[in-house]
Amino acid sequence: MNSMTQEEPKNIEPTANLASQAVDLSPPETPDAPPRQATEQSEVRHAETPTSDHLLGLNTMVEIDDLSFSYDMGKTNTLKNISLNIPEKQVTAFIGPSGCGKSTLIRCLNRMNDLVETSCITNGEIRIMGQHIHAKSVSPIELRKQVGMVFQKYNPFPKSIYDNVAYGLRIQGIKKKNLLDEAVEKSLRGAALWDEVKDRLKDSALGLSGGQQQRLCIARTIAVQPKVILMDEPCSALDPIATAKVEELIMELRRDFTIVIVTHSMQQASRISDHTAFFYLGELIEYGKTDMIFSNPNQKQTEDYISGRFG
Ligand SMILES: Nc1ncnc2c1ncn2[C@@H]1O[C@H](COP(=O)(O)OP(=O)(O)OP(=O)(O)O)[C@@H](O)[C@H]1O
Ligand SMILES: [Mg+2]
Repeated sequence: MNSMTQEEPKNIEPTANLASQAVDLSPPETPDAPPRQATEQSEVRHAETPTSDHLLGLNTMVEIDDLSFSYDMGKTNTLKNISLNIPEKQVTAFIGPSGCGKSTLIRCLNRMNDLVETSCITNGEIRIMGQHIHAKSVSPIELRKQVGMVFQKYNPFPKSIYDNVAYGLRIQGIKKKNLLDEAVEKSLRGAALWDEVKDRLKDSALGLSGGQQQRLCIARTIAVQPKVILMDEPCSALDPIATAKVEELIMELRRDFTIVIVTHSMQQASRISDHTAFFYLGELIEYGKTDMIFSNPNQKQTEDYISGRFG
């Protein structure tokens, strides 16, 4: 896994994958951190469920059901009664002003927030491929094999390009050179980086440009074949050319992966996402097809935000 901005942990292991393609968020062999339990039942305040016609005919990958989340043991909810379904093999963008909870929500999806000791789910639940991800039986480590993450600040390990991509596979126990070679090439091709690095696979990843390093982090994530890829502002540290490459890549990746992307760029959300969710002050204000959200939003707050009137 990659790492990210200041409050986020450094060098968390990349998703070492599941060889199994089955729906398997199986129990750990050794106990993990205690499961996050709701410390209190937040007041049941079912926000008006945003219309979900745009999801008709699509398979659901992630179900977020009336979720409330707190960083301070339930004293205040940073996320409030959020319900939305994320469809399989589509790009779903989370937008909203700074501090509205986009990163918090995305980090709930692979339980990265478990690393914040005082955090807890205060209401509701998240299911991925039908599995309640905060169930006692689910290991966060196993979950993160299925739900990979790409962060704002690319963070290749101080290893060779090859070793970065092979990292998760080796953790998974794959040692045969021909298998690793094949997977490394496939992942680098998948991340649209192969042609640029094929002659220097043994060179340090830190010698790549920023845009190349971010694509390398994406290659490292896809090498272990997660089902879902979470991206928290993956282009915010990149120049326009590198951004365009990563955007192109995201549109390619949606053929095989379910992608959730946080972005501050309205243009980016409208270029690359199929569905957009707008958040404000920890609440989901509107969720719909990206074209509709940007051309004809239902809510005034959404309109104000996308037209730059606040945020
Ligand atoms: N580890 C943490 N501990 C306590 N509070 C936190 C933590 N991380 C975020 N918060 C708080 O939760 C709220 C939502 O933050 P979050 O990072 O999810 O917002 P965001 O929408 O991603 O903002 P931005 O667009 O600036 O990245 C903010 O008030 C923030 O201060
Ligand atoms: Mg954020």
